[in-house]
Amino acid sequence: MHIHDYEKIWLVLAMLLIVAIITTITYGATAAGIGMIGDEEETIDSNALGEDERFAEPRVEQVGENEYEAYVIAQQFIFEPDPIEVPANSRVTFYITSPDVLHGFHVEGTNANTMVIPGEVSKLTVEPNEPGEYGIVCNEYCGSGHHTMEGLLIVHPEDEFELDGDSDE
Ligand code: CUA
Repeated sequence: MHIHDYEKIWLVLAMLLIVAIITTITYGATAAGIGMIGDEEETIDSNALGEDERFAEPRVEQVGENEYEAYVIAQQFIFEPDPIEVPANSRVTFYITSPDVLHGFHVEGTNANTMVIPGEVSKLTVEPNEPGEYGIVCNEYCGSGHHTMEGLLIVHPEDEFELDGDSDE
């Protein structure tokens, strides 16, 4: 079989291109200091959130003098808990996950913003200083009710804040 010289050149170039692509992808995924998106996210069984000690009962928990953790579920088409209540001048770490589809979690008027991915736990730390009410919106399209998916973050003045008891709701 005779292969034309130009044909050979193109074959070689195509091969080189494939090798270059594979090399680039491998480098991007494995080179030191480079992580794929979501690399460090903790994984969770999105079908069994009810059995997870953090997400079975979405809530805010105090973990230090001015430190709080909020366990939040984003699902079609609500956030839980709603409202999320924390005191001002604190440090609040949000752990957010989804039992169904991709959602967003954005606290309006702040730069607090993350994607919420089923099977992963998104972590986000916020230091609310100003008491007030902040809307929470979902900014990833998640279905027919996406535009109605809203929550509320209430930042109480420090001296007026009291954490709800475990089971009074
Ligand atoms: Cu949830 Cu859009």
